[in-house]
Amino acid sequence: MSRAQRKSSGRPAARGNGGRTAPGRFIVLDGPDGAGKTTQARRLAEGLKRRGLRTVCLREPGGTAAGEAIRGILLAHRHARLTAAAEAFLFEAARAQLVAEVIRPALARGAWVLCDRFTLSTLVYQGYAGGVDPRAIERLSALATDGVRPDLYLVVWVPPEVGVERRADRAGDRMESKGSRFLRDVASAYRRVALRSRGRLRLVDGRGSVDEVHARIWKHVERLLP
Ligand code: TYD
Repeated sequence: MSRAQRKSSGRPAARGNGGRTAPGRFIVLDGPDGAGKTTQARRLAEGLKRRGLRTVCLREPGGTAAGEAIRGILLAHRHARLTAAAEAFLFEAARAQLVAEVIRPALARGAWVLCDRFTLSTLVYQGYAGGVDPRAIERLSALATDGVRPDLYLVVWVPPEVGVERRADRAGDRMESKGSRFLRDVASAYRRVALRSRGRLRLVDGRGSVDEVHARIWKHVERLLP
């Protein structure tokens, strides 16, 4: 199958139903460490399942055998000397595999795909906070995602102090033990990129109780419901 054929049998770039060939929906929850998006992804999946929607929950990096192996490399303390560029390639490699092997086929079957982190994570962590040229990251992400775009991209945001405090009781893995300066850069880059995205990314306030944040997220998701 040619690249053009693959694209046309994949997902349309447009939002909403116009011209859509695949019936599924693709929702991403992203944001700085400690924003609570993993808990929120679980809550959201429960809500969708209660409505009888077939839901596939994924996390990045991971979700495929190759992706989980790559995750192991990235998170292990023993690889502490990876450069931000090397990290970017690894995250993008895991993403390419996840899109081709899981996300595109699931959307084609009509599933609702929920992904914990996606392209914005690489742009923020390895790009804006890590020092790799953000335009290079965007090109790598385009290669990895091959035209598959989220219908809804949510950025669950908390100020860095809140994120750091929420994570304080967790043993930091390699990615999380980068220091509070890095985490501050990450949090401010998320906010900046979301605010200037002209609605492409939806900023959700991650402060408050799990129920309050869930309600904010659900308001956005509701608009996609059949
Ligand atoms: P994880 O345990 O999944 O963290 P969280 O629960 O906060 O999502 O670890 C993923 C770590 O990898 C997290 O610190 C963010 C980082 N990351 C990147 O630096 N770049 C990326 O492209 C992705 C997907 C994650």
